[in-house]
Amino acid sequence: MELIFIKDMEKFVGREVEMRGWVFNIRSSGKIYFLQFRDGTGFIQAIAEKKQLSEESWQIAKQLTIESSVIIRGTVSQHPKKTNEFELQVKEIEIVQLAPEYPIGKKEHGPEFLLDHRHLWLRSKRQWAIQRIRDTLIRATYDWMNQHHFVKFDSPILTPAACEGTTTLFEVEYFDLGKAYLSQSGQLYLEAAIFSLGRVYDFGPVFRAEKSKTRRHLTEFWMMDAEAAFVQHEENLKIQEELISYMVKRVLDENQLELEILERDIEPLQKVKPPFYRLTHAEAVKKLRELGSDIGEKDDLGGDDETILTKQYDKPIFVEKYPAEVKAFYMKRDPENPELALCADLLAPEGYGEIIGGSEREDDYDTLVQRIKEHNLPLEAFSWYLDLRKYGSVPHSGFGFGLERIVAWVCGLKHVRETIPFPRLINRVAP
Ligand code: 4AD
Ligand code: MG
Repeated sequence: MELIFIKDMEKFVGREVEMRGWVFNIRSSGKIYFLQFRDGTGFIQAIAEKKQLSEESWQIAKQLTIESSVIIRGTVSQHPKKTNEFELQVKEIEIVQLAPEYPIGKKEHGPEFLLDHRHLWLRSKRQWAIQRIRDTLIRATYDWMNQHHFVKFDSPILTPAACEGTTTLFEVEYFDLGKAYLSQSGQLYLEAAIFSLGRVYDFGPVFRAEKSKTRRHLTEFWMMDAEAAFVQHEENLKIQEELISYMVKRVLDENQLELEILERDIEPLQKVKPPFYRLTHAEAVKKLRELGSDIGEKDDLGGDDETILTKQYDKPIFVEKYPAEVKAFYMKRDPENPELALCADLLAPEGYGEIIGGSEREDDYDTLVQRIKEHNLPLEAFSWYLDLRKYGSVPHSGFGFGLERIVAWVCGLKHVRETIPFPRLINRVAP
């Protein structure tokens, strides 16, 4: 008898197979038990009918509880109504472990209860669907980057200085060397890497001691930073819209079941194709004020601004050329107006907001020294970074996406806390 997975069931219709997994629900009508069964790859109904089972298996069926782990054997059949679904006509059941009463019941639970039980909550259909879409988005990223000559380059997590401002740094005592910091972004290290590899990216956890308690903020999240030599502002945006469009398409192609489970309206996702909309920061401010925001001319967009602005659009939007003073020290200035940075944030539509931050980088040694001083950053810690502008400096650009923000948008979720396996928030580091 062959051991199979739910995902491969269609190839086994009419055959006897063995499956291993968990019972997530049970219904009975006297002589039949309907077991809702999952094995990690999917969900099926397994039908345990008294007359098909040995006495021993029938007794086991009667004892089964929600979340008990089992091995079941039987014949694969086509679902009587749904073409792409299959069932198992059970002949034998073996218990691996009989579970006591499961804490996550059928009644509604609040978010704090569910987060306290995250280790169990992950088993739900909805969380299963989210993690599978996350996996597709990660694989799509690796594939696209690889096809476009970007080389994966692993940036360090323990770092001597800030990349994205000093207010959100997590400090670590580092032996006799004083303080080290958890990385906020691998960008500065990728800038070193382009002089060896041309186009590079990293993809890993980053940390922000964000005081913000919003639906968009985590203290630990996954960032993909990309950096490319000889790429300037315009081309940087093209790379981003191609990549994001490809990622969304991969989910549409590979995750129909998951999107259905999440009840995601796929029409807005089908529109995600280049070119994306573009607004300058000044145009965005004007538009936001018309929409009732009190945003100032030199302000960064706040969370609410992003929500109201992106509800106006059916595709992602680049907001370009922010006032340089609200952006990071490394951004190159716009030669046409040195008050502005050659940067863009990519905002996801439907109220989601910022998913990417990126810019062309300052490539002139003296200008960069000046910026580091203006931002009150320690010159000494950046001496290696300044070296990159001494030895073969080139125009270059890059960007970083927040994976959880993209997962939340693609899945249509209200909050990023469901997008990462074990979310870290200002008030939560467990489980
Ligand atoms: O805009 P940010 O701060 O940009 C950088 O860190 C650049 N160094 C990236 C680069 O150019 N290589 O962060 C990039 C993205 C944001 O657009 C957002 O999607 C996500 O990271 N992000 C967060 N996601 C969840 N929780 C937080 N606290 C986040 N902060 C930023
Ligand atoms: Mg940003």
